[in-house]
Amino acid sequence: MAGARPKTGRVPEGEPGRIGAVSDPDVRVLAEPEYRAACDLFLQTLLEARFDDESWSQTKGRFEPGRVLGAHVDGELVGTTMSMTNALTVPGGRRLPAAAVTGVGVRADRTRRGLLSRMMHEQLGDAAARGEVFAMLHASEAVIYERFGYGAATRCREIQIDRARAGLRETAPRGGTVRILPREQALKVLPELYEVSRRNRPGNIDRPAAWWPARQVHLGNAATVVVHSDESGADDGYALYEPTRSGERSTLNVYDLNAADATAAAELWRFLFDVDLADTVAGRIRPLDEPVEWLLADPRACRTVSIGDDLWVRILDVPAALRARAYGHADPVVLDVRDGHFPDNAGRYRISPQGAEITDSAPDLTLDVAALAVLYLGDRRVTDLAEAGLVEAHAPAALESADALFKTAQSPWCGTSF
Ligand SMILES: CC(C)(COP(=O)(O)OP(=O)(O)OC[C@H]1O[C@@H](n2cnc3c(N)ncnc32)[C@H](O)[C@@H]1OP(=O)(O)O)[C@@H](O)C(=O)NCCC(=O)NCCS
Repeated sequence: MAGARPKTGRVPEGEPGRIGAVSDPDVRVLAEPEYRAACDLFLQTLLEARFDDESWSQTKGRFEPGRVLGAHVDGELVGTTMSMTNALTVPGGRRLPAAAVTGVGVRADRTRRGLLSRMMHEQLGDAAARGEVFAMLHASEAVIYERFGYGAATRCREIQIDRARAGLRETAPRGGTVRILPREQALKVLPELYEVSRRNRPGNIDRPAAWWPARQVHLGNAATVVVHSDESGADDGYALYEPTRSGERSTLNVYDLNAADATAAAELWRFLFDVDLADTVAGRIRPLDEPVEWLLADPRACRTVSIGDDLWVRILDVPAALRARAYGHADPVVLDVRDGHFPDNAGRYRISPQGAEITDSAPDLTLDVAALAVLYLGDRRVTDLAEAGLVEAHAPAALESADALFKTAQSPWCGTSF
């Protein structure tokens, strides 16, 4: 496929300075001494307190030289965003370079003047110039990012299990042991365990070394890590939980649980359901298809409390993204992709079980790059988006084929906050 790349005015990495032709406001790459002010500004826009020195020292490793942007008006920092080097797992298991975007905020007295738009424009161009195939983020609100080509590409659910009714079925997998990890070992053990236990689920992302201490900032000192070992003694899964109390009721909040196989997952849930004094076990940011209900003799003991969007994806290099993923078995379809921001992405792509290629053939379906992001990891049926008016079907039979081509065996899920 043609390797046409979007154009950008990116400055070299680590070199603070202006990006592209800007007048007022001034959007530029921040230098390292400016990172803490950017962090403070971001937290202020999220209506959160600033970090103390200890929290800042655990967080600052996430700020990558050349990737932290600031918007200044009259010399004052009033907007910021940053991106971090990462990778996204796509259907079929390949991991492609991706920019993890976070720290997005514009000071409340400067909003709705186009500052975010300016920063997004620079940031997406910068990520594309780095060869990143995707930009990705978690959105505070669903109405902000579609205009920049992002689509909600994965979803997650919150579940609550009534511990008094949480007996496992006889058929639930059994094997291995679960132990509580001494707190001081968690940061040493978890990064490797995450690698061992994350499966190649679409939507999965890397957790670089700097991610782990930054994650600790958001956990209280009652957070506990449990590890599952298989019959041979090899660690193959873990869960991180933190108890909270409301009145007379205690909840075990499970913030992270990854397991290399079904046995490790079942044993970790079994352990959590057996913790004394907890009334409820709450699974936060869980995959939609995790079969917790089916582990339980009483499936209604597990309630889905909410389903929400998880990872938002902006496809920066449509040919590379379409070429990299695996497809199901169906007749080929021709997609006509529109992209108002990166014109080189726009074009016709023939998708078949063998892969994707650029074509001149008449299109079967027309869609915007943001809608393609919603479909790309397999979260939604193409038919559903067509029914919502987000995909235009020139050949209605192509919808069924496209559904089968884009469908994935597992629900896509990220499950990693950043
Ligand atoms: C979200 C935020 C960064 C937007 O910054 P901003 O500088 O006001 O955005 P812009 O002026 O560039 O807005 C661009 C467009 O998006 C729209 N928009 C931006 N934020 C919006 C919001 N929260 N709700 C609805 N529309 C929004 C604007 O109306 C504008 O639309 P238009 O192009 O049709 O005129 C800012 O409101 C903010 O800091 N919010 C609090 C922190 C937060 O939520 N950060 C995001 C974390 S993921």
